[in-house]
Amino acid sequence: MPARIGVPGETRPGETRVALTPQAAGRLVSEGFEVVVAQGAGATATFEDAAYEGAGASIAPSAADACRGAAVVVRVNAPTADDARLLDEGAVHLSFLQPSASTEALKVMLERRATAVSFDLVPRISRAQGMDALSSQATVSGYRAALAGAERLGKFFPMFMTAAGTVPPAKVLVMGVGVAGLQAIATSRRLGAAVKAYDVRAAAKEEAESLGATFLDLGMAAEGVGGYARELSPEELAAQQRALADEVAASDVVITTAAVPGRKAPVLVTASMVDAMGPGAIVIDMAADSGGNCEVTKPGEDVRRHLALVVGMSNPPAGMPTHASFLYARNVTNLLALYAKGGVVASDWSDEIVVGATVVKDGACTNEAASSLLGVPYAPIVAAKVEASAT
Ligand code: NAI
Repeated sequence: MPARIGVPGETRPGETRVALTPQAAGRLVSEGFEVVVAQGAGATATFEDAAYEGAGASIAPSAADACRGAAVVVRVNAPTADDARLLDEGAVHLSFLQPSASTEALKVMLERRATAVSFDLVPRISRAQGMDALSSQATVSGYRAALAGAERLGKFFPMFMTAAGTVPPAKVLVMGVGVAGLQAIATSRRLGAAVKAYDVRAAAKEEAESLGATFLDLGMAAEGVGGYARELSPEELAAQQRALADEVAASDVVITTAAVPGRKAPVLVTASMVDAMGPGAIVIDMAADSGGNCEVTKPGEDVRRHLALVVGMSNPPAGMPTHASFLYARNVTNLLALYAKGGVVASDWSDEIVVGATVVKDGACTNEAASSLLGVPYAPIVAAKVEASAT
């Protein structure tokens, strides 16, 4: 009997994405899986039930029905504890997970002896690029952030030379040049803005310049582990804010995307920096959901402050659900292939991507950071294999 893959849909308020598109569902069906999608799960991403049925999937009347009997369940967002209670014993669950924000769901998944797989923890290695949902969704976010800035600014992004006069290009400053920041630079440049960029990682300079941005080099290096930035000390952060104040004040649009894994987003733009911005200036804060890069940000809200507007972008990829879901579904099918193939569940526990992305399995916690959050013993997958072969 083929293994069933369930798509229960999302319960996060405001979410519009779906974990599998009809095309991805069809690919899994042709590989030998049975795919069951909850009624209406893809509707907000423009994927109708009939399209899933046309691809060979079946439609279940509810999320519970989509999960019942499923060997694998796929979602975009971390499950709530109630979502996790819908899982069958031993099911594999793929989603973003943010273990620190999902402890209750993880406890339920431990009880259910589920395998919890987190897209946040997929190693950033070349072989895993096709599974890198952090990158695919950050690409959507960066694009959305640039468009949001262009849409709300009362000025053109490009330079215009018209019979009625010449207007200079908008000045855009992108702070945080990871995947999202690079896409914000590229999109702002495509729209004709003059773009400056800033990051604490030295490697970001060349990448930003290759896209046509001018890099602001403050001589501050904060490389952390695994290619990520480390958290700045309060003194370093204050120095950074002072050094960037004039640049922020001179910008029409500031797009902030700075993040440090596992930490609250660093505050790069203080309230007094916003107060010094010109009439109609915009801050697009992409880090709104993780605390905000701007001191006055409120997630999901527009905050008017002095002459400027601070836009707290909440869940930016949900603003472009069709292609965000298309890319995410590709990431799902690629990562899933390491856990289930040819219609059956068969996880490759020797694969470093599987080892890195799996948070719980067989009732034990296989991720060190999550085990201390949950207060349960850490049971690394590699050690379990060594013990098994030694006996
Ligand atoms: P992220 O979302 O964790 O952070 C966004 C950016 O904020 C980063 O560039 C970071 O350096 C910057 N940042 C943090 N604190 C800051 C501060 N105080 N001031 C200014 N900027 C600050 O980053 P993302 O997009 O996940 O990328 C992280 C790294 O992973 C990058 O080095 C990227 O090139 C690498 N990567 C590697 C991939 C691979 O397959 N090899 C795929 C995707 C990313």
